[in-house]
Amino acid sequence: MNLNAAVKVISVDPLCPDRAILAQAGEMIRQGRLVAFPTETVYGLGADGLSAPAVRRIFVAKGRPADNPLILHIASLNDLPRVACQVPSSAYALAERFWPGPLTLILPRNKTVPAEVSAGLDTVAVRIPAHRVALALINAGRTPIAAPSANRAGRPSPTTAAHVLHDLGERIDLLLDGGETDVGVESTVLDLTVTPPCLLRPGGITIEELKQVIGRVDLIGVEKTDSGPARSPGLKYRHYAPQTPLLLVSGAEMVAKIIALIAQYQGEGRRVGVLAGEENSNYYKEADYLVIIGRRADLLQIAKNLFAGLRRLDAAGMDVLVAEIFDEQGIGVAIMNRLRKAASEII
Ligand code: TXA
Ligand code: MG
Repeated sequence: MNLNAAVKVISVDPLCPDRAILAQAGEMIRQGRLVAFPTETVYGLGADGLSAPAVRRIFVAKGRPADNPLILHIASLNDLPRVACQVPSSAYALAERFWPGPLTLILPRNKTVPAEVSAGLDTVAVRIPAHRVALALINAGRTPIAAPSANRAGRPSPTTAAHVLHDLGERIDLLLDGGETDVGVESTVLDLTVTPPCLLRPGGITIEELKQVIGRVDLIGVEKTDSGPARSPGLKYRHYAPQTPLLLVSGAEMVAKIIALIAQYQGEGRRVGVLAGEENSNYYKEADYLVIIGRRADLLQIAKNLFAGLRRLDAAGMDVLVAEIFDEQGIGVAIMNRLRKAASEII
């Protein structure tokens, strides 16, 4: 790993994190410092969620717009009333089924939570992450931890400590390296302050899974990302984007279109990188750089490797990137949501 002089990187066993290391990390959280840590979805950039100055530091380090609120991470359901109020029974039903796990609930904000966390909204985003390092850090810090994904604003979320180091190395105080994250895309964000509950971001928990517990889920928050007013402030910003232009190719003729695009761009003297599933890898042999992120039939694997794949392609020095679309089922909804936001063009 490319060690940076300014940041302390400590390896931790994701299944059995060392108590002394976590005690030290918790102490840093209490001192208002920035600690990046793994969750089951992506790495988070953590700070004391009840301290306004600590929370402000997160925004500065990420270059995050001040109107994009953060998620509070708690370790136990007992801590929910510390951060939220008027918690509906549906929240407890969802928590019972999916927490710890990749589901974030939007609830009325308890006024003890600094307004900075929620970018001034009277709601708050909360989840219990399913990762022993994350839970141990929250317990050691004895405070809810505010944490966005630990990437520079607009970049793909980090799924390894190396990604965090690359984006934020000199801007954080400690990085807990717990290896590659498991889910690979961020948590599902569900607004429980409206009726019916409204999906704001598809993620690790699928829409079908949510419906099994609470019946109706309004998808308007996700569908309107390009046009109507943003209900989740974060939805209006371009995200996950490689610096190199990315074309997302859809339709029944997807493979043929990508083969033709490779030839066309190379004819113009441009170098082409391709992001694809294993099943089609033989068709793209002419690409200047090919990144295979798993089997198309295994969407969990595709989700896990998606952001790392985008980062690898971006680092390869190509002039243009071309990506396959994936089946929009289950976690595929989250995969396609991220790819659409990453794309500069969809054809
Ligand atoms: O999996 C995840 O959720 C990761 C890990 C670290 O937990 N975190 C993450 O945080 O993805 P971030 O900040 O990158 O994304 C949080 C999303 C943003 O789209 C933000 O706008 C939305 O949640 N959000 C946060 N608080 C909100 C609120 N009060 N109302 C509506 N949306 C909110
Ligand atoms: Mg993010």
